[in-house]
Order: sequence, then structure tokens, then C-alpha cells
Amino acid sequence: MSAAEVVRRCSELAAISEEDGRLTRRFATPAMARANALVGGWMAAAGMAVRTDPAGNLVGRVEGADPAAGTLLLGSHLDTVRDAGAFDGPLGVLAAVACVERLRTEGAPLPFAIEVLGFSDEEGLRYGTAYLGSRAVAGTFEPALLDLVDDDGVTLGAALRDFGGAPDEVGGASRRGDRLVGYCEVHIEQGPVLEGRDMAVGVVSAIAGATRAEVEFSGRAGHAGTVPMDARHDAACAAAEWVLAVEAAARAEPALVATVGRLEARPGAPNVVPGAAIASLDVRHADDAVREAAVSALRAEAQRIGAGRGVEVAWREVMSAPAVAADPALTARLAAAVAEHGLPVVTLPSGAGHDAVALAELTGVAMLFVRCAGGVSHHPDESVDEADVAVALDVLHTFVRGLAR
Ligand code: GLV
Ligand code: MN
Ligand code: MN
Repeated sequence: MSAAEVVRRCSELAAISEEDGRLTRRFATPAMARANALVGGWMAAAGMAVRTDPAGNLVGRVEGADPAAGTLLLGSHLDTVRDAGAFDGPLGVLAAVACVERLRTEGAPLPFAIEVLGFSDEEGLRYGTAYLGSRAVAGTFEPALLDLVDDDGVTLGAALRDFGGAPDEVGGASRRGDRLVGYCEVHIEQGPVLEGRDMAVGVVSAIAGATRAEVEFSGRAGHAGTVPMDARHDAACAAAEWVLAVEAAARAEPALVATVGRLEARPGAPNVVPGAAIASLDVRHADDAVREAAVSALRAEAQRIGAGRGVEVAWREVMSAPAVAADPALTARLAAAVAEHGLPVVTLPSGAGHDAVALAELTGVAMLFVRCAGGVSHHPDESVDEADVAVALDVLHTFVRGLAR
């Protein structure tokens, strides 16, 4: 399959959304079901046996010649952020499908089986916590997650059941105990490094750790026209002061990034002093100790700001994922595959999270980044060059064939 067809498929998939006019595809939604059906059809056309696992992950499998040789896992996620681009996630799934199709066309079966995984949740948009699909496969999905509630009051368990998954059997999605060759994920870089170095692809060395929290500021609602300014306990003002403190803290620490991507004032009326404000927090650093220290400091800062304003602060940690190193042996093979195509090997860390983070608890992981225009991602302007995708397809194919040697 050509790189052009892979890019075309990413665009076709990007039309499957929960919202008109922009791409938003959350975990276990009807849009996700349609995406799974479309990609499942492409998997079947490439010769794979296709199923959806109890956690809603799409799984395509081709058997190897030697059942004792185990299974190589490839893939990425099929969920998206809100108002997403077309390539974050789907490129890795469709590159893997293209690889399987190419191997089949060549004949010469591999000793090991290949499974292409289209993970049901990596972004965590619907339930706040990320890697739901990949954690199920890694065997680290905790049953308590089933009780998480989305914005419409739907529990994760109910959403999964409606989706056709099996909340009581999520453990069945786990591949723990299986003989696995490893996991390799192709993904757009989502940053500017490869473009800056004029390289089509790069090999990932490590993935930064991340903490997500939900911070609730509770003050006192009141009449916007009558409550004097010095008598207010305005929760939105406390949140706003804290948001700027988050920015300042991240600017002060090299390579620390911290984001409040979601901010809501309640009850949310122009003429009501906000009685509550809810803020999300996302903090990342390659060094777990630096990230953890920053999170503690931001928590203390929220308390300090709240205390000064008569506003209570409740802090709920939603997720904490440590930094993950790529598997040295798999990564060396991936680098060798890049070199075999006559390209210099650029190694770079990932600031973004990936399903590979969850899969690293199951098996060795390796990642190949593909240059994306302007480093733009989590934005509808996300774009990749067909020629770069062609390089990635060649490298992935060489990597897989190399593993079989
Ligand atoms: C996923 O894209 C993440 O890094 O949040
Ligand atoms: Mn993403
Ligand atoms: Mn992604």
C-alpha cells in the first residue's frame, strides 16, 4: 500500500467524528464504533482476523509460521482529542496495516504472528485518565476505573457495555503471560525537532512522565451587582491566579511543561459571582522527581491562593505515569532499519504520551516518529508529508523483517 493511500485513509477516518465540523472521537462512542468498523474493514482486506477486545480495542491478527515464536504488537490509538488533527494515532494504526499488507504481498511468512492494535483510548478525553485501551492490553487496567463518570454522568462501565465491550471482562483484554516479541508504534512527532533537522523520521529514546489532576476551587456564589468586591469568595478568581502560578512554575524549571487545558466557572452565568471553578492540570517532565516536586509545589500553591481568598481547594490526582525508556534492543533494531535506508539516525525523547507508555509494563517498546509540519499537533492543522510517510513505511517493514532474521 502506498504512503498516499495511508494518508488518504487517515483523512477518511478523520471525517468520523462526534461533532459536526471538527474531529472529536472519544472512547466508546458511536463515532468510535464507526471508526473501528472502517479500520477493521481495512485490516480484514489486508488478510487479518479482526476482533474487538473487551476494552473496545480493535485487534487485527495474522498468524506466523511458528506458533512458539510469539506475537509482535504494532499499532497506536483511534481516539482523538477535541478538535483534533487526522494523524495523531491513526497514522500508527494505518502504517501497521500497510506493513501487514506488504508482508502478505511478498509471501515469505514471518515466524511470529503480528497483531495490529487500534487502541480505544489514549487521549483520556472522555474519562480524564489516559491509556484506558492500552492499559487493558497491558493488564494494568484497574476495575475501579469502571466507576469513572463522564460529563454526561455515564460511567465508564456503562459506556463500554453500550459500545459492545465487556466491562466485567476487561481483564480478558490483557496479554500478560503471552509470548510477545515487543511493541512498535509509528507516530507523528508532534514537535519541531525532526523538521528543524530536516529529517523524515526519528527514533524515540524515552517518553516523558505525566501527571494529570482535577482541581476544584469552592468559594461562594452571589449576585454580581450587589456583593461588594471586598466581600467576595470568587472561585474563578482563585483559579485564575493559580493558572498563572502554574505557568510561572513551568517557565522557571527547565524542560518542565504544565498546562491548564480546561477551566470551568460555575454556575456559569454573567451576573453570578462564580461559586466554584474546576481546572484540569497536566504536568510533564522527563525526570519523574522533577515532575513530582512540581506537582507538590502547585498543589501547595493552590492551597495558599485559596486560603487567601476564603476559597476551598480540593485536589484529585487523575493519573500519574512515570517516564518510560524505549527498549534498547528493539530500538537498536529500529535505528538499524533507519540506517539501512541510508538515513542518519536521529534519536529524540517524546514530550507527548503514547500507548507505548502503558505497553512498556507488558513488553519492550520502540517508537518511530514521523516529521509533522511545523510540529503542529492536537490541532486540526496537523499534517504529514507523503514522502515522510513512505520512509516510515519502509523503515517499519525493514524493522519487522529484521526481527524475523
Ligand atoms: C497524548 O497525546 C498526550 O500526550 O497527552
Ligand atoms: Mn494525542
Ligand atoms: Mn497520539
